[in-house]
Amino acid sequence: MDKKLKIGILTLSDRASEGIYEDISGNAIKELMDDWIVSERDYVYRVIPDDFDLIKNTLIEFADELKCDLILTTGGTGPALRDVTPEATEAVCEKMMPGFGEMMRNESLKYVPTAILSRQTAGIRANSLIVNLPGSPRAIKECLEPIFPAIPYCIDLINGAYIKTDETKMKVFRPKQRKA
Ligand code: MTE
Repeated sequence: MDKKLKIGILTLSDRASEGIYEDISGNAIKELMDDWIVSERDYVYRVIPDDFDLIKNTLIEFADELKCDLILTTGGTGPALRDVTPEATEAVCEKMMPGFGEMMRNESLKYVPTAILSRQTAGIRANSLIVNLPGSPRAIKECLEPIFPAIPYCIDLINGAYIKTDETKMKVFRPKQRKA
């Protein structure tokens, strides 16, 4: 039987982690996943400050101990001194998947010229796909919508859980069906 899908949502924000404001982006990620995915799933959710070691250790915990198939981060991708999410992602991944960042920036440029300020990337650690999203709540759907069609097949290829979506809301593409 297939493994049950587990999705990690990690918000990187000094201020949200101190409770100065609500984590709208992390919640927006969960709402989209609930809207698109029909496979049974569990979530792991955490809000932490923009600290390189803490981000690195949390990504390792989400991937290795909690066995998340997909880890979506939000925030910390920009040029500011405290923005270190892409560096922490690279530090824990065995393989980078630059196409995700390229596509998200391209698509985001249709909405905001400042899309080029995001250094968002993606990569693989063992059986987990890690994808960085910018911190702006608007950016969540703008970035996830174009890349999501390729995510289930990517997770098939790293032996993660099978992701089935509601095709009326999110149509995914699998060049080959995975063997049972
Ligand atoms: N991408 C989309 N789709 N929508 C946005 O509003 N904001 C940009 C960019 N990418 C944005 C976006 C801005 S203003 C910044 S500074 C960078 O993402 C980095 O954001 P972060 O540091 O919160 O990750």
